[in-house]
Amino acid sequence: MSKILIFGKNGWIGGKLIALLQDQGKELGKDLFLAETRMQNRESLASELDKIRPTHVLNAAGVTGRPNVDWCEDHKAETVRANVIGVLNLSDLCEERGIHCTVFATGCIFEYDEEHKLGSGVGFTEDDTANFEASWYSKTKGMVEQMLQVYSSTLILRVRMPISDDLSPRNFITKIVKYDRVVNVPNSMTVLHELLPASLVMAEKKLSGVYNFCNPGVISHNEMLDLYKKYIDDTYTYTNFSLDDQDKILKAGRSNNELNCTKLVEAVPECKINEIHKACELVFQRMKINLTEDGTIPGKIFKRKPV
Ligand SMILES: NC(=O)c1ccc[n+]([C@@H]2O[C@H](COP(=O)([O-])OP(=O)(O)OC[C@H]3O[C@@H](n4cnc5c(N)ncnc54)[C@H](OP(=O)(O)O)[C@@H]3O)[C@@H](O)[C@H]2O)c1
Repeated sequence: MSKILIFGKNGWIGGKLIALLQDQGKELGKDLFLAETRMQNRESLASELDKIRPTHVLNAAGVTGRPNVDWCEDHKAETVRANVIGVLNLSDLCEERGIHCTVFATGCIFEYDEEHKLGSGVGFTEDDTANFEASWYSKTKGMVEQMLQVYSSTLILRVRMPISDDLSPRNFITKIVKYDRVVNVPNSMTVLHELLPASLVMAEKKLSGVYNFCNPGVISHNEMLDLYKKYIDDTYTYTNFSLDDQDKILKAGRSNNELNCTKLVEAVPECKINEIHKACELVFQRMKINLTEDGTIPGKIFKRKPV
């Protein structure tokens, strides 16, 4: 029987993992516990691990910034405390105890460069080290990823621009639908409906090291918004602006990249991981049903500022 302890129980991804595990239920022989400890408090963390004695830890905890990662620019110490000290503490204590630890990390540590040009189809692999430092959030995530790799019991999943089947404010789709103006860049993205179940399979297999944790291929902002128009609100319109203009309104830079997902797909052939365009079509098909069942009129749920 697997005994799973989840960190980040009140968070977006943590909540989805809990729901998924509750759905899978005891029939799969998984026992679920929700962690209470702040990860930077090493002694309390050790006590919680020793009390519950999990076989697996799922770490979906950390600061991401509210309303967005710009927050981390003004809260550098708090960001380090959770995302560096806390995350390392947890993986370190798990390593000492032989507990498998899955970290929901980020792929926003890369930006397109000469060897990985936008549109080239050449994505960053798990062997590449971070090349994007234009935000404190990404810079510290890139540093911590390198350190986490010393732990043989830690699995590091590079999540990017996660997409859910609802219109949660955390969903990448919801975010860009609400923007007054939006850039148009192809990116690797993580469809949670397909990839969170895969993460549980990877944890069960006790895989370790880094995995690009996205659907294969890239999708642009405009392609995504066109799908939103097609499935959710045919009256919706959007306006593009350039990356340079976007930089002027943001405190921290935002990464754009393609991640090569071959290692992931080969590691879990039993999981259905669709190419990103197909995966997004399926997201919108499920979203349309979800919204209709909720009785919500999809096109009326946003208060958009005038463009
Ligand atoms: N959402 C994204 O767009 C995205 C993209 C790529 C990667 N990720 C990564 O995925 C992970 C989860 O993201 P999310 O979107 O689910 O974040 P979230 O909704 O902000 O949830 C994060 C959770 O972590 C908890 N937490 C924060 N600091 C903690 C600490 N020091 N000790 C223990 N718990 C702590 C928070 O608890 P409290 O509420 O009690 O503070 C919250 O429940 C993060 O590491 C994030 O970097 C997210």
